[in-house]
Amino acid sequence: MKRARITGVGGCLPVQVVTNDELAVRVDTSDEWIRARTGILQRHIVSGDENAVSMATDAARKALDHAGVSPANVDAVVVATSTPDQVFPSVGARVQAGLGMTSGFGFDVSAACSGFIYALSTANALICAGQARRVLVIGVEVFSRLMDWNDRTTCVLFGDGAGAVLLEEGGSDGEGVLSTHLHSDGRLGDLLYVDGAAGCAGTTQHLKMQGREIFRHAVAKLSAAVDEALSVNGLTAEDVQWLVPHQANIRIIDGMAKKLALSSERVVVTVDRHANTSAASIPLALNEAVHDGRIQKGDLVLMEALGGGLTWGSALVRM
Ligand code: ACO
Repeated sequence: MKRARITGVGGCLPVQVVTNDELAVRVDTSDEWIRARTGILQRHIVSGDENAVSMATDAARKALDHAGVSPANVDAVVVATSTPDQVFPSVGARVQAGLGMTSGFGFDVSAACSGFIYALSTANALICAGQARRVLVIGVEVFSRLMDWNDRTTCVLFGDGAGAVLLEEGGSDGEGVLSTHLHSDGRLGDLLYVDGAAGCAGTTQHLKMQGREIFRHAVAKLSAAVDEALSVNGLTAEDVQWLVPHQANIRIIDGMAKKLALSSERVVVTVDRHANTSAASIPLALNEAVHDGRIQKGDLVLMEALGGGLTWGSALVRM
């Protein structure tokens, strides 16, 4: 059976940084409250001509450079996003053009904060089925567009950015993407959603969230998805070298690390500087830990995420 492995990683963050203190000028909040409840100190927010396509293309280019692969040799671009710049063409097709690709195909996947796990799973399936040999997997979000900047319960939590990996056919048993696990439960859709879309009369198009309920579901559902990934592969938590979780909240991340009995040095955390970048958070965290030398070739990396839908899932990857 064919296998897929990650051969390149890249990331892109908007230039503009917005601190908690700056938000406290706009809404009734404080640096102390945000730090204590979420672990967030700052977030990057798009400005000027930065947008989903520009960030995704930049992250993709860096992942290709890291892998030493030319865009002409990429077969597909799979983009996880809930905040495309246009309804269509997809960000995937726009990135394809931005990279100068004249063959292959690009499309978007919508699974909110779990989007990167869904996109990785889709790309892995394309490679395992022999439909593609090299796939760019990108998570990109401009969540600043979805915020009600007068709602302190949501606007402090999110940031913008993009992360990308190149997935290539190759590797032997026990290497590369070992398994991915996807779940959703549409009955829980109203716990976290965007109210309508452009052109839908009577909607705000703002993100709405029942934070406490999301927190409660996150720890239980992520634990189950992690157990599933380990047991399918005949592994235990002791085999995991790195946890690269979705970066929603330091308390959820700490809860998962505790469950796995992983010391904090083995958990990649970016939520303090990036806040929650939804589908971009896992590849951005992976990008940081690969390029600063923490994650090495051969390391076993566990990724997990939960988001609107509700959607959730996990992936086990031997780098
Ligand atoms: N600044 C100051 N006070 C605030 C703020 C703020 N930014 N936001 C809410 N408060 C107030 C509330 O109004 C409330 O005040 P009240 O008691 O006078 O009514 C009080 O703080 C407590 O509010 P809660 O919502 O109960 O606060 P909680 O401790 O649950 O923390 C939080 C909120 C951080 C959102 C938490 O529920 C959480 O982390 N949930 C997980 C949700 C999440 O991470 N979502 C991201 C998207 S989903 C995902 O990616 C997994």
